[in-house]
Amino acid sequence: MADLDDLRYGTNFGGAAPATAAPALPGTKGLAGHDWGIRSRMARIFQPADGRTVMLAFDHGYFQGPTSGLERLDLNIVPLVPQADAIMLTRGALRSTIPADSRAGVVLRASGGPSILKDLSDEEVALGIDDAVRLDAAAMAVQVFVGGEHETKSVRNLTTLVDAGQAAGIPVLAVTAVGRELVRDARYFRLATRIPAELGAHFVKTYYVEEGFETVTAACPVPIIIAGGKKIPERDALELAHRAIQGGAAGVDMGRNIFQSAHPAAMLAAVRAVVHDDLAPAEAFALYEDLAHTAPVLA
Ligand code: 5RP
Repeated sequence: MADLDDLRYGTNFGGAAPATAAPALPGTKGLAGHDWGIRSRMARIFQPADGRTVMLAFDHGYFQGPTSGLERLDLNIVPLVPQADAIMLTRGALRSTIPADSRAGVVLRASGGPSILKDLSDEEVALGIDDAVRLDAAAMAVQVFVGGEHETKSVRNLTTLVDAGQAAGIPVLAVTAVGRELVRDARYFRLATRIPAELGAHFVKTYYVEEGFETVTAACPVPIIIAGGKKIPERDALELAHRAIQGGAAGVDMGRNIFQSAHPAAMLAAVRAVVHDDLAPAEAFALYEDLAHTAPVLA
């Protein structure tokens, strides 16, 4: 029982000083009305200093197995994790491979089912909210196939996770997954990002497009982050990240253009410089080359 001797009553109530409300966090566009747990977890993903994030995506194994660069998560990915603001991965990879003292926000893959041998849009929810809580997830990620064969089902996966996430205080990242048959232009991405945001996604991952990307970010009421997409030369990937940030993206969730680079750690550092320091692509590429000369080459 607490010691009741020498009870002291408070006397310093700040006089006429107005109460200070909790400040809105940068990088949490559209989330001011959410509960503290959601906003706190978003702050594990988006750096409070600038409201931006560099997420390292390496969940690709959930539908394509050990793709190039992800053959050994312990060797290829674990050394990169301290440089990432957040990591996007499966719960299997988290439990089996990621050190529990990692400070990166954990964005857990929460949908899955079909492999690359089947129709990828035919996903189900693949994570229970209890396990997301147990793993202290900063967010759950779900594919949304707007225009895909199983569009409605994937939207239902999203809303199911949003309902569970709202109850537990865990945000949901909607990942716009684009079928090969669809035209990747600003009109499509305005549709494919706005729908998940309207249905409750707390942030949305999409692709950069050269024409009109700023209309995609403007029309989406929650933060947008971009995927890197297939591996392209480092200089081009840095240019892509730079343009996306200038076009209103709140960060990147980059996978192959980091882990398939000849120098993943150097590439991750250069991407960070673009996102967090607004470094121009040419300078960021020079940084990449500098660091690449000092970093070990991964086989
Ligand atoms: C799977 C995903 C991936 O994690 C993500 O899109 C991959 O990132 P990148 O395109 O940069 O390799 O969401 O569908």
